[in-house]
Amino acid sequence: MSFDINKLKLSGRIASTVRDYSIKLVKPGVRASEVCERLESYIIELGGYPAFPCNFSVNSVAAHYTPGLSDDVIVSERDIVKIDIGVHIDGHIADTAITIDLSGEYGKLIEASQRALETVTSIMKPYISLYEIGRTIESEIKALGYKPIRNLSGHNIGLYVVHAGLSIPNYADRTLYYTRIPPNTIIAIEPFATNGRGQVKEVLQVNIYSYTGRKPKIGLTSKENEILEYIIGRYKTLPFTPRWLKNISDQRELEEIIRTLRTKGVLHGYPILIEAGNGLVSQFEHTFYITENEVIVIT
Ligand code: CO
Repeated sequence: MSFDINKLKLSGRIASTVRDYSIKLVKPGVRASEVCERLESYIIELGGYPAFPCNFSVNSVAAHYTPGLSDDVIVSERDIVKIDIGVHIDGHIADTAITIDLSGEYGKLIEASQRALETVTSIMKPYISLYEIGRTIESEIKALGYKPIRNLSGHNIGLYVVHAGLSIPNYADRTLYYTRIPPNTIIAIEPFATNGRGQVKEVLQVNIYSYTGRKPKIGLTSKENEILEYIIGRYKTLPFTPRWLKNISDQRELEEIIRTLRTKGVLHGYPILIEAGNGLVSQFEHTFYITENEVIVIT
């Protein structure tokens, strides 16, 4: 697979701009939906498309929360908020995240994941061992007294694919000692630090879905088929949220159709991920493009 480096770089610039703009928006009293809708529109204003819904994860929520059709979050004064943004141009995806500490009381926890990402950035090179990346993240996070989240990982990125099969551990995984990043790889590194158990668990609630690529020939009503065609046409197999479908159907019908499509294996659901010990979680993320002989920081 070959990538268009210019499209990738442009996606990266848009993602970084939107990520940094989120700092201005996330304030006590604001709703997650206001922030996410603003950030998602800003991506489009800058010439990109969201590669997945804006992730707005507060305190012990680690990932995969975006405001739903009927649920939202209001930011409080002492919250820490992770904003995880994905942008694509013709399938060239840039993935980046930041943690915003509203009270300023959690500086060390924020620093733990931030420093881990900075150190990995400084050692990143073609053919680097995945063990080496994980070991670096774990040691930087532990040096500040926290734990990395072991069951969340970085990932390689393909055209129109956010998680393309390779997982980059956030801890020293010895089984990956000889596994190296091959050339011509887009890779997202995302250290998560916590004062909890160092592990996330899924909850039942799902606000993010993607098309699995399996469309049943029969057994869908015409409305189910219409909504599925809309999803495939707009998002292909990239993650989306029912919030983006508000204009094409009313809420109750939409909720029911999404549930049916998931049950039939047509849609994949991404459950919200929460720290298993209810610890606070910080996260930073950058995307890199690794060629045969250089490392390009995309975000
Ligand atoms: Co990512």
